Amino acid sequence: MAMHRELAAVVHELKRLRRQGVDAIPISEETLAQLRKRFPIRPRTELSGAGGAPPPVAASSGLPATTAKPRPSIAKAKPPEPQTPPPPVVTLAGDDKKPQWESLKEQVLSDAFCRSQLKPGKNLVFGVGSLDADIFFCGEAPGAEEEEQSEPFVGPAGKLLTKIIQAMGLSREKVYIGNIMNFRPPLPSAVGNRPPTPEEMAYCLPYLKAQLAIIKPKVVVALGKTAVDGLLGPDPKRRMGQIRGQWQSFEETPLMATYHPSYLLRNESMKAKRMVWEDMLLVMEKVGLPISEKQQGYFK
Ligand code: URA
Repeated sequence: MAMHRELAAVVHELKRLRRQGVDAIPISEETLAQLRKRFPIRPRTELSGAGGAPPPVAASSGLPATTAKPRPSIAKAKPPEPQTPPPPVVTLAGDDKKPQWESLKEQVLSDAFCRSQLKPGKNLVFGVGSLDADIFFCGEAPGAEEEEQSEPFVGPAGKLLTKIIQAMGLSREKVYIGNIMNFRPPLPSAVGNRPPTPEEMAYCLPYLKAQLAIIKPKVVVALGKTAVDGLLGPDPKRRMGQIRGQWQSFEETPLMATYHPSYLLRNESMKAKRMVWEDMLLVMEKVGLPISEKQQGYFK
């Protein structure tokens, strides 16, 4: 009985994801085996009514044995369109950063669509840091710890980002940290992350743009390919290895793309760490931060 309820929840979630345009998700072998038991794959003739053995024929009449209408073809059904609503409209009233930021935060945290993507007890995540920051770090989407604490970059990748910021002679309070997404992209299970879809990113982008319009940083640091794609628009030919370390621009603000801290956690090589640090030295130079010999030589 409990297993039936769990399966029904999984199926419900899979259908919801499919409506949003998600066509692949990580799934454990155990869940897959349960799904197979509950929903055995039927022979193709039953599903599509085409391409298999001909229907049985009644001996006397030569007509098909059944007069029931042929089953509609499930195999050919078009997946429904994703159901992400049009992006929100944001208006920033007045010139004072603090009230602008507070009212934006309120709008984001009460956004009905974003809230509908959360699991019970989880939170939306808005940016944190100085409203006068020169550097705006932009990540991809909240993960498990972030949606728990309602703060960006507080999990393992966040701890590494904090160390990078400190190595630059700064603190989390002196920079601004945000994400393209304000909600953790939903999955049927509580574990695992998936990248946001382009539609999900397009939905949250006005909120990120509004934060940038309030803070007016000297530099945006885009952390990882998804953040770069979210900010600059998707480009299948774009490779992080090619664009990192070079200045781009996002709505006239200089943008430095670099590897995501979670990539550094997965890839222990010195080379990747050195590249991120070289990118940060360029950022420090751009915003006029002093660079000591020690900082200059970290990876030499
Ligand atoms: N990864 C991100 O891109 N953002 C977070 O807030 C945490 C992890």
